[in-house]
This record gives sequence, structure tokens and C-alpha cells, in this order.
Amino acid sequence: TSELNRLIENIKRKLGDELFIPGHHYQKEEVMAFADARGDSLQLAQLSANTTAKYIVFCGVHFMAETADILSDDHQAVYLPDLRAGCSMADMADLQQTESAWQHLMQMFDDTILPMTYVNSTAAIKSFVGKHGGTTVTSSNAKRVMQWAFTQKERLLFLPDQHLGRNTAYELGISLNQMAVWDPILETLIYEGDLKDIKVILWKGHCSVHENFTEYNIKQVREQHHDMSIIVHPECRREVVELSDYNGSTKYIIETIENAPSGSKWAIGTEMNLVKRLMKENPDKEIISLNPHMCPCLTMNRIDLPHLAWCLDSIDQGQPINQIKVDQDITHYSKVALNRMLNL
Ligand code: 13P
Ligand code: SF4
Repeated sequence: TSELNRLIENIKRKLGDELFIPGHHYQKEEVMAFADARGDSLQLAQLSANTTAKYIVFCGVHFMAETADILSDDHQAVYLPDLRAGCSMADMADLQQTESAWQHLMQMFDDTILPMTYVNSTAAIKSFVGKHGGTTVTSSNAKRVMQWAFTQKERLLFLPDQHLGRNTAYELGISLNQMAVWDPILETLIYEGDLKDIKVILWKGHCSVHENFTEYNIKQVREQHHDMSIIVHPECRREVVELSDYNGSTKYIIETIENAPSGSKWAIGTEMNLVKRLMKENPDKEIISLNPHMCPCLTMNRIDLPHLAWCLDSIDQGQPINQIKVDQDITHYSKVALNRMLNL
């Protein structure tokens, strides 16, 4: 380990401003130690748009590296230290399924739908959304972006995370019976009422990490820790968000814990590495994971010290590996969708 640390330090020193390493808050500590900037999805998208570094070595997952490539200039290149670092949620919506869903939905609702996608989606889905007048959204701007979307069309198709879509729409005053779910496998709209009442169509996708926080976990915390507050990410199911005290994006969770009074007690429903870091950085507060099994994001965790060192070494040797390059035709409209969000 100390050898790998030394290797990374040397390459960082040698490449200086030519190298930029963004790290998502869910990354391991051993990797975060070398990140030039930490952030949530929105912050990292903005940083990728602004950096002038020639090499962007993205410590996060595949869709984030794609976003960095879309927003960066032609003379910049983005690398993902381990190509297996994907996102199961992003994989729940592919382009073929989305185009087929769109055809069905357009028949059902004429031209009254605007598509929007959580940034946790492939570049191809972002491009589809951009082409059809829609936008991307992240957990920290979801309400604002959804409000804008309703100024454009009567109803929305929200990809690929049904939970963020449902939680956001609910907070904007849309009732659960105005929301339908599109099942991309069965190619069916799951809804029991009158079609004309539907305001939001939720893609049947979810985050396999945040779905692990349950009503049972909340009951346990309420029984065992009477004075503990519960805070969760909006990728958790509606029932879990409903029973929690606070919910918000990664950035919101971090700020809430950092600003909480000394001695306060928190059960946090989000990815394990972030919960562990918050425990370490806030020793004056009592912090536990809402689910005692902690809940790691396995794909985020694929980025580790050996992969980071391997990737940096390949750049240093002049034969870079693992470049993430989005096709030119996909780049155009996915950039349209991302910029619509960033300009709001
Ligand atoms: P945010 O960084 O937008 O909170 O998203 C959480 C997440 O699941 C990233 O993969
Ligand atoms: Fe995807 Fe969930 Fe992991 Fe984020 S935490 S990368 S949404 S699986």
C-alpha cells in the first residue's frame, strides 16, 4: 500500500495541473485521500465542465465519467480506473426500452409528456431526453428542475429512478394516485385510475443500495434510540422517506450533519463509505447507519488504490487505459439535456 501511495503521489506531483481527480462522496477513503475535489453528482458535473486539466481520472462510476467527458473539451480525456464500476440503476434503462416506452406513451397521451432523467443514467438516455426537449436532474436540484419541467408539458416521464421521481413529485404536491409506473420489462403502464389524471410516469428502476433501508430499520432505531434523528437519501422508497425526519441529497446530508449541534444523534440512510466518513469527521456526534449492515455500493467500491495507481501509471507511461469516450452523436444531445439543467 505504501508503495502504491508513493507511486500515486509522484505521478500527481509530476503531472501537476494537467491532472484532475474528482472523487464522489461514496468513494473509499484510500481513494478519496488522492481526490483533488470531492462532491456529489451535481458538483462533480459542474467541476468537470470547468476544469482545464488534460487528464480527468474519475473516481466514481461509469455514468459520472461519461458526464465528465460530455461536458469537457475535445483536448481533455476522461478515465475510469476500473471499467467495471458501473451503476445498476443506470443499467435499468436502456435506449431500446426507452424508445419503445416512448412510442407507447405517446399513443396514450399524445404530445403531452416531457422526458427527464436522473443523471444516474447512460449518456444514450440523456441524449434521448435532450432530443425530446427534456433535461437531466440530480438529487440536489430535483424539485427545482421538476417545477421547470411542468412549465413545459402537462405530464412527465421520469427515468430511471422511480423513488427519486416519486419523492420529488410528492413534495411538489402531486398525490400518489397521480403517479403511474412504467414497467420496461412487461412494457406496461401500472396504474389503476383514469389516464387523464396522471401527472408523472415513473420508470421502474431503483438504487440497489438505497432500497436496503426499510421501515423495519426505522422501527428499530425509534425503539432503541429515542432521541435519534433519521436522515435518508431520496433514492430510498417513499415509505422510508415518509417515516424519516429529514431527506435530501448527498450534499444535503453532509451539510445537515456538519451543522448539527455537538452531541446530537443520527441514523443515516445512505451509502456506507459516506456514513463512515461522517462518523470519522464528526466525532462529537453519535452516528450510526440506518441499516446495521451498512450498505456499500459495490460498483463504487471497485475503484480502489491498485486500480487508481494502475490508471495513473498508464497515463504517466504515455499509454493511457480505460478512457471513457462518448460517441459524438450522443454527446450533442446529452450535452443539451445537461446544459438545460445546469442553466436553470
Ligand atoms: P448524489 O450524488 O446526487 O446524491 O447521488 C447519489 C448517488 O447514488 C450517486 O450514485
Ligand atoms: Fe448507482 Fe446506487 Fe451505486 Fe449510486 S449508490 S452508483 S445509484 S447503485
